[in-house]
Amino acid sequence: MKKLIIAATTLLISTNALSGPSVDNTYEQLVDKQGNITLPADYQKNWAFLGSFFVENAPAAGMTANSEPSFDLHTVYTQPNAAEYYRQHGKFPDGAVLIKDVNATKKEPLTTGLVRYEDAPKVTFAMVKNTEGRFEENKAWAEGWGWALFTPDSPKSQTTDWQGEGFNNCFACHVPVKDQDWVYTQGYKTVLGQ
Ligand code: HEC
Repeated sequence: MKKLIIAATTLLISTNALSGPSVDNTYEQLVDKQGNITLPADYQKNWAFLGSFFVENAPAAGMTANSEPSFDLHTVYTQPNAAEYYRQHGKFPDGAVLIKDVNATKKEPLTTGLVRYEDAPKVTFAMVKNTEGRFEENKAWAEGWGWALFTPDSPKSQTTDWQGEGFNNCFACHVPVKDQDWVYTQGYKTVLGQ
């Protein structure tokens, strides 16, 4: 009986290690042979929190000087072992995935003050670390990363070219942090340790 319990426990632990969030699973589970990127399930629940940005949106068309600005909440996640690797080596390992959720916010006076907190999801971004030069033919892969954008209704990336317009306009906005391997690491100091 004891042996059986040990065997069952070992199986459980190894299954967890295989299916849990890890940089080692990325190219088997989230990226197909053509380099198409899929959004993993449950990353908000079992990946590591990297940091968050509270963003006052640029004025929309039709807004006047008296219109109230709108705010979005950006929340960024990665696999626990990607964060751990970064803390040790100062860079992300192959297979690291950075995921950024963009949510609208709701405003409500709470006991702390006038609070804005997470409301409906708007869009989700991902960057997949590629140190092996994969997918040279696929324009969504460049500068050591795969670039992806997901709308709330689909786990399939909408990005076909990281250097285009609209859903593809990653390059122009990330070029200011080219020297940080294209990542806004200034927002993640507590978790990344630098
Ligand atoms: C309008 C400018 C803009 C565009 C377009 C944009 N990004 Fe970003 N991205 C940012 C900024 C600024 C941050 C960090 C601060 C924030 O979220 O406001 C960020 C953060 C991220 C993060 C979190 C990790 C990091 O780099 O800090 C990911 C992942 C990401 N972007 C992926 C993408 C992908 C993929 C695309 C293209 C499909 C893209 N972004 C397009 C400006 C942009």
